[in-house]
Amino acid sequence: MTKRDSMPPRATRRGFLSATAGLAALAGSNLAPGAARALDPAPDAGAARATEPFWGEHQGGVVTPAQAHAYIAVFDLATAKRAEVETLLRRWTDAAAALSEGKPVEIPGEGGEEAQADPADVLDLSPSRLTVTFGFGLGLFEKDGVDRYGLRAQRPAAFVDLPHFPGDQLVPARTGGDLLAQACADNPQVAFHAVRQLARLAYGVAKIRWVQAGFVSDFGAGRTPRNLMGFKDGTGNPATDSPKEMDAFVWAGEEAPAWMRGGSYMVVRRARIALEHWDRMTVSFQEQTFGRAKLSGAPLGAENERDPIDLDAKDANGDPVIAENSHVRIAHQMALAGAKILRRSYSYNDGANITAERWPPWRQGMEFDAGLVFVCFQRDLANGFIKIFEKMSRFDMMNQFVTNVGGGHFAIPGGVAKGEFVGQRLFEAAS
Ligand code: HEM
Repeated sequence: MTKRDSMPPRATRRGFLSATAGLAALAGSNLAPGAARALDPAPDAGAARATEPFWGEHQGGVVTPAQAHAYIAVFDLATAKRAEVETLLRRWTDAAAALSEGKPVEIPGEGGEEAQADPADVLDLSPSRLTVTFGFGLGLFEKDGVDRYGLRAQRPAAFVDLPHFPGDQLVPARTGGDLLAQACADNPQVAFHAVRQLARLAYGVAKIRWVQAGFVSDFGAGRTPRNLMGFKDGTGNPATDSPKEMDAFVWAGEEAPAWMRGGSYMVVRRARIALEHWDRMTVSFQEQTFGRAKLSGAPLGAENERDPIDLDAKDANGDPVIAENSHVRIAHQMALAGAKILRRSYSYNDGANITAERWPPWRQGMEFDAGLVFVCFQRDLANGFIKIFEKMSRFDMMNQFVTNVGGGHFAIPGGVAKGEFVGQRLFEAAS
């Protein structure tokens, strides 16, 4: 029997349509994502209907234990009407809440038209711990000097512009944007499906500016995933299960406008890694570059991954065991000076493209377009990403392998209470 044959009869496209259409009408809104019925898990989905909460004090996808896949989409607003932005955010909120429970998104037809059904491509999949995190780019508050939606005065003081950092090669088409949606799930299609529905709901109001898919290596509870350079990535993060640490370094507090409290500031960077170059380096050079052992993840000079980092340790020649320009030394020095961020990065692999060098030995050929979708969250950008990267971008040994080619930074508003839409308090404050 094929997988298709084994699906329950009411999971046909027709059944799917009629089951949701009636309920959509009952819901009395012009959008009824998910109406009221969860998609039935396919018989082969087993008990895995893992869900993450959507409503709450904070948005999901920040301290949520990392799912295996991410799909980030950044949109540009194409409307001049503030009411259309509010409606979009309400639709997105309802859709994200439904999707995170594995429900479909349907757009009821207008003027007697047939309803637009969910594409149903994840019909037989579990919700896969989907989270959808929404963020606001600078363009929501002001674009080209114009206060399009009357929100300029609500821009948080801490939501500063990012300076240009040495080595940045940010491609405009992959940089910035007005609205962000980060979908994370243990299944890549579930994450993509979510963003696809948001794009569908945005038709005529916002259009995609850039997208980026990512993945993390498979890892078990308590294990740190490895990035494409082969190093454990995430060890030195603050503890996400410590509300005290999260309040101190990740969540915006009293200093922020009311709508931002419980939110965070997110930086995304598409960091292309010259993997061909990296793969030709010796392991000891690679370890010097990071300041940690490749296999164990331990700081150089220590034994275990979680051992403390001793920046004063010297080798027999009196040289620092953790090199002056190693990635971890620079980052850790900044942490000791109070600059702490929560990293939640994903690897990316977008195939290969042609690269031609204009200098000896004039290498040319196909090179991987792969690297790290660096993602971090912080309470204070100036004392977080900006402070750390100002130093890192100038001195880090890792820079010879890494080029930042895109990204953006976003204000991630606080969590959403049932009945509200994401960012509602921002719009109310500005009315
Ligand atoms: C391609 C880009 C990057 C790669 C491959 C990378 C990789 C790593 C690795 C392997 C570690 C050691 C293990 C760990 O603690 O997680 C680390 C630590 C760290 N990285 Fe990165 N990183 C990258 C970019 C950045 C950027 C852009 C920042 C911030 C601006 C950053 C901040 C940190 C911090 C704060 C630590 C922990 C330091 C500590 O232990 O106190 N990294 N990174």
